[in-house]
Amino acid sequence: MQILGFISAALAVATTTTTVVAAAQSTAGIEALVQRRLPQHVGDFEFSLVNSSSYLSELASLESTSNDTYTVSNGQNGKIKVEGNSLSALATGLHRYLADVAHVDIYWFIGSRLDVLDGPLPTLCQPLTGSSIVPYRYHFNTVTTSYTSAFWSWEDWELQLDWMALHGINLPLAWIGVEKIFIEVFQEIGLTDAEISDFLTGPAFLAWNHLGNIQGSWGGESLPFSWVDSQFEMQKKIVKRMVELGMTPILPAFPGFVPRAITRVFPDANVTNGSAWERFPALYTNDTFMEPTDPHFAQIQKSFIAKQTAVYGNVTNFYTLDQFNENDPASGDIDYLRNVSQSTWEALKAADPSAIWVMQGWLFSSNSAFWTDERIKAYLGGVTVDSDMLILDLASESVPQWQRTNSYYGKPWVWCEIHDYGGNMGFYGQVMNITVNPIAALHNSSSLVGFGLTMEGQEGNEVVYDLLLDQAWNATPIDTAPYFHDWVTARYAGSNSIPDSIYTAWDTLRTSVYNNTNLTSNAVPKAILELIPSTSGLINRTGHHPTTLNYDPNDMVYAWTLFYDAAFQDPLLWLNPAYEYDLVDMTRQVLANAFIPIYENLVSVYESNQTTPQIAVAGATLLDLLWSLDFVLDTNEHFQLSTWTSAARASAAGEQDSSIESFLEFNALNQITLWGPTGEVSDYASKSWSGLVSSYYIPRWTKFIEYLAETDVADYNQTAFKDGLLEWEIEWQNDTIAQAFFKRDGNTTAQAALQSVVGRWADVFSV
Ligand SMILES: *[C@@H]1O[C@H](CO)[C@@H](O)[C@H](O)[C@H]1NC(C)=O
Ligand SMILES: *[C@@H]1O[C@H](CO)[C@@H](O)[C@H](O)[C@H]1NC(C)=O
Ligand SMILES: *[C@@H]1O[C@H](CO)[C@@H](O)[C@H](O)[C@H]1NC(C)=O
Ligand SMILES: *[C@@H]1O[C@H](CO)[C@@H](O)[C@H](O)[C@H]1NC(C)=O
Ligand SMILES: *[C@@H]1O[C@H](CO)[C@@H](O)[C@H](O)[C@H]1NC(C)=O
Ligand SMILES: *[C@@H]1O[C@H](CO)[C@@H](O)[C@H](O)[C@H]1NC(C)=O
Ligand SMILES: *[C@@H]1O[C@H](CO)[C@@H](O)[C@H](O)[C@H]1NC(C)=O
Ligand SMILES: *[C@@H]1O[C@H](CO)[C@@H](O)[C@H](O)[C@H]1NC(C)=O
Ligand SMILES: *[C@@H]1O[C@H](CO)[C@@H](O)[C@H](O)[C@H]1NC(C)=O
Ligand SMILES: *[C@@H]1O[C@H](CO)[C@@H](O)[C@H](O)[C@H]1NC(C)=O
Ligand SMILES: *[C@@H]1O[C@H](CO)[C@@H](O)[C@H](O)[C@H]1NC(C)=O
Ligand SMILES: *[C@@H]1O[C@H](CO)[C@@H](O)[C@H](O)[C@H]1NC(C)=O
Repeated sequence: MQILGFISAALAVATTTTTVVAAAQSTAGIEALVQRRLPQHVGDFEFSLVNSSSYLSELASLESTSNDTYTVSNGQNGKIKVEGNSLSALATGLHRYLADVAHVDIYWFIGSRLDVLDGPLPTLCQPLTGSSIVPYRYHFNTVTTSYTSAFWSWEDWELQLDWMALHGINLPLAWIGVEKIFIEVFQEIGLTDAEISDFLTGPAFLAWNHLGNIQGSWGGESLPFSWVDSQFEMQKKIVKRMVELGMTPILPAFPGFVPRAITRVFPDANVTNGSAWERFPALYTNDTFMEPTDPHFAQIQKSFIAKQTAVYGNVTNFYTLDQFNENDPASGDIDYLRNVSQSTWEALKAADPSAIWVMQGWLFSSNSAFWTDERIKAYLGGVTVDSDMLILDLASESVPQWQRTNSYYGKPWVWCEIHDYGGNMGFYGQVMNITVNPIAALHNSSSLVGFGLTMEGQEGNEVVYDLLLDQAWNATPIDTAPYFHDWVTARYAGSNSIPDSIYTAWDTLRTSVYNNTNLTSNAVPKAILELIPSTSGLINRTGHHPTTLNYDPNDMVYAWTLFYDAAFQDPLLWLNPAYEYDLVDMTRQVLANAFIPIYENLVSVYESNQTTPQIAVAGATLLDLLWSLDFVLDTNEHFQLSTWTSAARASAAGEQDSSIESFLEFNALNQITLWGPTGEVSDYASKSWSGLVSSYYIPRWTKFIEYLAETDVADYNQTAFKDGLLEWEIEWQNDTIAQAFFKRDGNTTAQAALQSVVGRWADVFSV
């Protein structure tokens, strides 16, 4: 009964369940949101909960869930009245009014634009009503906490949580600072701090540590416990705020991964070693897994949940717990798999009798060779009460597993949009799929209970995430034409006007860039300029790290042309943060696409045995384009490497120890480049950020051009080139000269940068 912790004060005086509920469902959290984001309109809204008594039972189990419903109408004295049967319904109703009637909204990166709403609140011609079609709206991939929010400040979290509440999220993952509880549990069973540190990864890699993929820290330091403490303090605020905003946090549970030294304190511990992950050496992977059948497992789980509940209160029944995510079980034996999940479930229920085990279904697609239908059935079947489990079908728009598993053999599940891997940057969308398919799924699967977002990184393309969350309140597939039109109207609020060319630009994207239906490549495409240079293998990659463009690049140029043109019609757009952000983003994509033929030309000059000067000329054009890209990116803080590295340093939170700050920065840099001590997952989380382009990608391409100039075609050796590059890449992470380079803070305006770059690349920017 997650609501109980929240209302513990009310409990003292409450005598019946009904009064508890009434007291619990204070609208204070929503009112505080208005205070934060619309201070000029505090008091202009009236919020009330109606028919909300079902809420308490809804929280108790997945069997008795219900949809959320709101009504927004004109209140007395010019007020706007928002009624709903849950806090999430109220937040969603408020959002619909703000976005569709007042035309203001809140965003990733550019932040809240709700304060642009000046003057009296617009009245309604008729009430706005809405009902969710699924009880749950989920948010976060486990790895978003590393790719996106690893170094967030409380201010960043506040924006995120308000965004989530307004977008109707009511079931988010709450996975920050969890190492604190792990550390305490491990200390309690007698492990030393050194033994525990040996297990924990650096701060930018904790998600994969929790998943049992990796262990240990590289880069000279181990995870600072002081940093863990400050993240844990953040988590307390996050959880409290989530509850105030009507969200049920999904907290972690003990999945079984333990420090290697576990057998020192429990000599009889029944442990196995996890599989090797990616190309990591055994030192950093091969995580020790305690068999859930071992009685110590239940003991640790009990301690873990008790410690956690003592801190946050009884705020949830939902626990995230993944044992075999990209990490294969020690045995494929059917009975073994059933015993593992059954023991895990029993231990969890012993720790919290109302626990619901939340699990990502990604393993079933990422290792479909191991996970035969029979094994999936056995593993899920170990949990004999279906409503004690909730599965996140992690990439429903592209590699859904729910059909193959017959709706996870009856377990409740959530239709999730992954869309982005590694926080990669590229315009991309599947607008048909994320509107039509979740509705079809709802008609075809009786255990579908939610829609959600599971992007690995929260990057661009916000419109297609909004689209799925709004689909959760529409029983038929949303018509994307009016949807994009309305989205654009709110997006550029605060400018004089929104020229038609902006609407046309976005509609062009909608039917092209955002309408991929060829799922051979099925996620945000990566710019090849971010990859290790090579004469082959960069172009036309498919899968979920594609480099294929699923649209005619001229469509992107055309949309860009229209979008840029708008500022000539209304120069005030240059002062609009949404316009500036989107223009930089579109320019980035146009230049990234233009890089492809320039690169192909370089390779063809080389492979046709032309002279060194001819290679140099082709290479110079390529580098020139990268400098232009860096120049444009540097006009916006959200496209600057220093924003990420400064956040990492700042997360040291008052620690005066500069080695901790440097280590945090090393983590930030390593994640987006080598991703591992020696490039184990190199360039997976690459970014087109100024400073990174200039200090990392440009030197790599420069070395490549030099290599081509000095190497006969017959002697070309990619391995030799790559090995040489790796030494430089490793040094770059500590290179203070490079760091000075990427920390230059751009003082060029987007307008000035665009003008000079457009002049230089006129052919690139014309259709
Ligand atoms: C929620 O609404 C949808 C669409 O109207 C309906 O199919 C579904 O059964 C409802 N769910 C619950 C739990 O009431
Ligand atoms: C980079 O810095 C780390 C931490 O200060 C250190 O352990 C490592 O040896 C350095 N690497 C190189 C290549 O200088
Ligand atoms: C360890 O766990 C495995 C898998 O559950 C089981 O087969 C084995 O008997 C256990 N070993 C001991 C010593 O308990
Ligand atoms: C994996 O770790 C265990 C100790 O936990 C060790 O015995 C084993 O040799 C390791 N595997 C490899 C490949 O190093
Ligand atoms: C949580 O609820 C249980 C009963 O369900 C109660 O015993 C316990 O004290 C509560 N814990 C907190 C921290 O509120
Ligand atoms: C997307 O493409 C498909 C297939 O070409 C087409 O049927 C559909 O109408 C397009 N949708 C949009 C919104 O452009
Ligand atoms: C949506 O995704 C599913 C699952 O991969 C696929 O079968 C279907 O063709 C896609 N639909 C569209 C319109 O892209
Ligand atoms: C889908 O994309 C792949 C890879 O780019 C391509 O080979 C294939 O022809 C495309 N299919 C269709 C139907 O366009
Ligand atoms: C990439 O795909 C396009 C379109 O199918 C094709 O024209 C081009 O030759 C391919 N390039 C490479 C390097 O495979
Ligand atoms: C370039 O030279 C290599 C030998 O070094 C030869 O195999 C290749 O055919 C030549 N390419 C062209 C396009 O002349
Ligand atoms: C390419 O370089 C690697 C690493 O230097 C070397 O091991 C390999 O033998 C080279 N291949 C050829 C064909 O020369
Ligand atoms: C700002 O721009 C001027 C010239 O445009 C340059 O001289 C100066 O160094 C720049 N300052 C920063 C902090 O980048």
